[in-house]
Amino acid sequence: MAKSTRTARSTASAPQLPSRPFAAAGPAAPLTCGQVSLDGLAADFGTPLYVYDAAQISARLSLFQLALAHRPHLVCYAVKASSTLGILRLLAAQGAGFDIVSGGELERVLAAAPSAAGRVVFSGAGKSVQEIDRALEANILAFNVESEDELELLAARAARRRRKARFSLRVNPDVFAETHPYISTGLREHKFGIDIRQARRIYNQAAASKWLTPHGVSVHIGSQIRTAEPFGAAVARVARLVRDLAKDGIPLTSVDAGGGLGIDYHASPSFDPAAKVAEYAAAVEAALKGLDVTLLLEPGRFIVAQAGALLTRVLYIKRNGKKTFVVTDAAMNDLIRPALYQAFHEIVPVTPRPGKLAPVDIVGPVCESGDFFARDRKMPPLEPGDLLAILDAGAYGMAQSSNYNTRPRPAEVLVEGATAQLIRRRETIADLLAPELL
Ligand code: LLP
Repeated sequence: MAKSTRTARSTASAPQLPSRPFAAAGPAAPLTCGQVSLDGLAADFGTPLYVYDAAQISARLSLFQLALAHRPHLVCYAVKASSTLGILRLLAAQGAGFDIVSGGELERVLAAAPSAAGRVVFSGAGKSVQEIDRALEANILAFNVESEDELELLAARAARRRRKARFSLRVNPDVFAETHPYISTGLREHKFGIDIRQARRIYNQAAASKWLTPHGVSVHIGSQIRTAEPFGAAVARVARLVRDLAKDGIPLTSVDAGGGLGIDYHASPSFDPAAKVAEYAAAVEAALKGLDVTLLLEPGRFIVAQAGALLTRVLYIKRNGKKTFVVTDAAMNDLIRPALYQAFHEIVPVTPRPGKLAPVDIVGPVCESGDFFARDRKMPPLEPGDLLAILDAGAYGMAQSSNYNTRPRPAEVLVEGATAQLIRRRETIADLLAPELL
């Protein structure tokens, strides 16, 4: 099944696309998404509004598929980065598999692309009995198991169904990767995975089980990692384990190198996504040299982040002493990355006004000082009613949105060439009140 993913499409050459799909024809021209006017989208669908460029998403997936073309592979898109059905369907149609971390994400994959069930890997440190049962029923590709207790439960649930479960141990390789502490996962002090030093013993025990099939080894060292070396180092440790297990008579068929490849949130012109993926794939491949395994990857951010922007309207401009606050109709509930990780997102006016740049804070209406998108950011003159695009918001934007302050979540639009399709309607207050029992 994994081998069948080397489709004609993945051997075609990758389309040449700019690293960001939101661009203007000139310095004074309005920003567009492909051939579609962002002003027009805001007028048609309202704000705040998430907009995604389908061509960019497809091209990013192709980059991974092409870079791995010399070895059996499956790119399992990390659903958590952006889980809207329209995006999952787009990726599934291009042969993607999926990395899920909950029963809810499994239902999303099954709803968007039922035939992709056999291309799903299930990660996560706390799978429930119900989630395991549903995934067994769906006959997913493999469970990425994170503890001995989980492996025992998986065997018991597989036995009840009288159907073997394929598993990979997610090992913790004890590799340091430079990133934000909240999204670094590959050190022994983190809660993720099984200590790689224990893994050989656990595989040997599991191999004796009637209901477990050792499928592979998985590893994920963190997110927004900008260099290839830590990936190579982690996979090298995994490769050593695969060789040891082969000596024990346990041949594994896959290595899952996880996700985590970082993007450039600062719009540096030198950032070349194709070169990044090639460098990353080369590091992983070098570590796997000589091993006859299918390579699984779980990229999320790299595929969707730069394909998405959050459009927001300026509501008010206010000056408190020396500070200027630009209050927008989007807030931390719509995009929490700046508040949660002090993350930088470039913010550009859709139709720039001439004039000098001046520092402003761009903030939302939520009652928290942490509700900001940018602080002391140099921006051209802005006025109420202006439209802003918060760039690189396609990953962990809508997916991490909430209804805090009883704010309905934004609508989402997928742009394909000259057409725009509403893939998720804006929530209503009635949607938010519906589950409540007075
Ligand atoms: N696989 C596993 C097991 C993961 O835990 C993750 C992300 C991925 C794959 C995908 O990683 P990516 O390729 O997207 O870096 N909310 C944070 C990022 C959290 C990442 C969690 N795990 C952010 O907005 O930066």
